[in-house]
Amino acid sequence: MMKYLYFALYLFGIALTSTTSTTLNAYLEERERLITEEKRERIGSNLVLTEKELQVNGIFMDERKKTIKSAIFNNTIFPPALNFFKTKHLIDESLIFQMISKMPKGGALHTHSTSLVSTDWLVQNITYRPNCYMCRTFDDKYRFRFFEVAPFNPECPWESIAALRRESVNVAEFDKSLYDKFSVVINDPEIQHVTVNDVWDDFKEAFTMIDGLIQHTPVFIDYIEQAMEEFLQDNVQYLEIRADLPMLYNLDGSKYSRSYCMAIYQRQLRKFKLRHPGFSGFKIIVAGDRYLPRSAIWADLQLAETLNHYYPELMAGYDLVFQEGRGNPHLFYINELLAVNNLSYFFHSGETNWQGTSIDNNLVDAILLNTTRIGHGFAISKHPAILQATKERGIAIEVNPISNQVLHLVHDLRNHPAAMLISQNYPVVISSDDPAVWDATPLSHDFYETFMALCGQNDDIRVLKQLALNSLKYSVMSPEDKERAIALWHQHWAVFLDEVLAMTSSI
Ligand SMILES: *[C@@H]1O[C@H](CO)[C@@H](O)[C@H](O)[C@H]1NC(C)=O
Ligand SMILES: *[C@@H]1O[C@H](CO)[C@@H](O)[C@H](O)[C@H]1NC(C)=O
Ligand SMILES: *[C@@H]1O[C@H](CO)[C@@H](O)[C@H](O)[C@H]1NC(C)=O
Ligand SMILES: *[C@@H]1O[C@H](CO)[C@@H](O)[C@H](O)[C@H]1NC(C)=O
Ligand SMILES: [Zn+2]
Repeated sequence: MMKYLYFALYLFGIALTSTTSTTLNAYLEERERLITEEKRERIGSNLVLTEKELQVNGIFMDERKKTIKSAIFNNTIFPPALNFFKTKHLIDESLIFQMISKMPKGGALHTHSTSLVSTDWLVQNITYRPNCYMCRTFDDKYRFRFFEVAPFNPECPWESIAALRRESVNVAEFDKSLYDKFSVVINDPEIQHVTVNDVWDDFKEAFTMIDGLIQHTPVFIDYIEQAMEEFLQDNVQYLEIRADLPMLYNLDGSKYSRSYCMAIYQRQLRKFKLRHPGFSGFKIIVAGDRYLPRSAIWADLQLAETLNHYYPELMAGYDLVFQEGRGNPHLFYINELLAVNNLSYFFHSGETNWQGTSIDNNLVDAILLNTTRIGHGFAISKHPAILQATKERGIAIEVNPISNQVLHLVHDLRNHPAAMLISQNYPVVISSDDPAVWDATPLSHDFYETFMALCGQNDDIRVLKQLALNSLKYSVMSPEDKERAIALWHQHWAVFLDEVLAMTSSI
């Protein structure tokens, strides 16, 4: 504050004395000082790059400059400025994206259990299994399910997918029609997804269809493994998953209790880590549905506490999920949320543009309820006290750029509020929310948008490095696990630098 005051006095002084005594050099020095002072505030500014990192940095910086220059002077498309559905192909072709794919990105701390695995795998693996059925309701909604023998269901008559595929004229087209159902990607998002509610409706439909497939016990088991495969493949070493813990079903229609999901998560994680020493694991955040009545959330919280006791290493805590705009605010469940005494919270809060509403105020309740991190916090720039609390108490803000764009909170990602958070070194982590339903990679596309649009032209790879490190720092791994994960990350980072230099040496 004092610095700014002196600066103001200084300018005042210049104005009083004659302008001729202000040399251009003094002005430029002052200008440089101000720019440097701002630079010091940015995420990653404390890091010092090695010789090799500087080399890689140069490649990143030059590529971004070229893209920006070409957009300004040659009217080419700057991908972050347009809906991801329209720009994904451009992003995938870019050198920056290819380099970011190789980059170790640490952990994805904001993901959901229903959108961890690519839609391709859902179609090519799950729907090719025997006993898989689908049906269409009178109002044109589709449902999927596995049965030993499909029951009579007049409102939505079950048909065998194997039979439908056999009878289809073109198998590729049939599979594409399934793919389109599990994904919210469309060609004309501005026309079909006019409002936030339009896109959320599509989004919920996709999840209902996917649920019918992945809640089948043997599918769920493979699904968890495939999720870890895909994240690791994208150079993400760790996850924290918002999970709804459904009652998994068997072919004969019998069901397991919700806690059985945890047993599967635990078993699959142990198996996977044995085979992949480069993977640091995942943790589960139980995700309650904010459309449910208080009594159901109370039961949910008690289940979460019980699981906390039986799976102390796997369980991270509790959150309330689904569209904040139309669901209940945190305050609606305040008695229940206050009555729990040994559960960490990770609240989705302020995923909105509606300033001053109950959704916006979820940020206040999240802070008062001692949330460990804030999911989205898209509205946080309008809350100075909350902002201050995040910094003072190290409450990380989980930023999901592509999610916010495809769910219509912001169109041009250069206008995303996290640009401000990055410029002032708030505790930010980058994640991907539901990457599979919008056909994004597990985390690379969100890191691409971050580097291109949430950062400025002069931000270098120190921001990327710090954001990756933040994702481990603000995870809820034990201190020992965290230390191991960070050491592992540094090894991956060294490999990444060599890979980028090898990739670009021929260009
Ligand atoms: C603009 O396009 C021209 C012609 O293709 C090319 O030579 C030039 O380098 C481009 N400029 C920028 C800034 O990309
Ligand atoms: C699906 O994936 C599982 C697990 O990787 C594999 O064992 C199975 O053969 C695959 N099924 C199909 C139909 O591709
Ligand atoms: C709270 O839960 C943790 C596991 O997450 C457990 O180690 C601890 O003993 C519990 N404390 C109480 C008071 O129940
Ligand atoms: C939040 O943490 C503060 C400081 O530790 C404590 O005084 C307060 O009771 C906590 N609030 C809740 C709702 O747990
Ligand atoms: Zn989310």
